[in-house]
This record gives sequence, structure tokens and C-alpha cells, in this order.
Amino acid sequence: KPIFVLNGPNLNMLGVRKPEVYGTTTLRDIEHSVRSHAEKLGLGIEFMQSNHEGDLVDAIQRARSEASAIVINPAAFTHYSIAIHDALEAAELPVVEIHLSNVHQREEFRHRSFVSLQAETVIAGAGAFGYIMALDYLAQR
Ligand code: DQA
Repeated sequence: KPIFVLNGPNLNMLGVRKPEVYGTTTLRDIEHSVRSHAEKLGLGIEFMQSNHEGDLVDAIQRARSEASAIVINPAAFTHYSIAIHDALEAAELPVVEIHLSNVHQREEFRHRSFVSLQAETVIAGAGAFGYIMALDYLAQR
């Protein structure tokens, strides 16, 4: 089964949005490097981005039967989505939470994560490399 790599709101704006915080890598660049790294590891990938909470909940529900693990950058939903927390809990899969930026170094409202309660591993501040780290972690696991 593939690993679902899920990306939350505004991550489609990567490369344009606050490059001093998020870098100049686009989500397409990330998708390319995730796919080629996954191939090297012999892992399948399903990659998606949505600005809509319900679409992410639908994908997480589908993951329960269709995925082996979830890598998720929930973006702003990290900090307030109980629906995503609950969906991850119900999925009963290994979850790796990633953030491009070190959220703990930023505004107070980014310090709380509802997703971390359901995440086995949390990676923050490694930029796009965090996605590669997440795959390596799951491959080793
Ligand atoms: C983010 C951090 C979140 O606080 C923010 O809302 C994002 C991106 C990150 O990857 O650093 O949209 O998840």
C-alpha cells in the first residue's frame, strides 16, 4: 500500500508565499523529490494538497484502507482542526507530522498542534527535506 503524503491549505502557494520563512521550493518541486526518493526506497506514494478541511478528512478516511502510513503537513489546520485530529485517530496508521518551518520559533498560536497527539513523529524546521526525512523514517520503521 502507498504512503499518503497530504498537504493542507496555502501550501499550493509555496515558492511565492513568504520565501524567507518557507523557502523558494514549490510544492511541485517537493512532489518531484518525494516521488523520486520514494522510488529509491521502493515505496509507493499518493501525493495531494487541499485548501479544504473536508477534502483532507476524506483522504485520511480513505487512507485507513488504502494507505500504509500518512505523512501530513496540515499547515494552519494543525493548530485548530479537531476534525483532522479525529480522522487521524480513526485511521489507525503511523502518522508523521511535518512542518517546513520551525513552528516553535514562531507565533504562539503555532505552538499548539492537535495533530501531534496522533503523530508518531514530528519534524519541523527542516524545510522541504522534512518530507524526505519522513519517508526515511517510515522505511526504517
Ligand atoms: C506550516 C506551519 C503552519 O503554522 C502554517 O500555518 C503553514 C505551514 C509549515 O509547514 O511550516 O501553513 O505547516
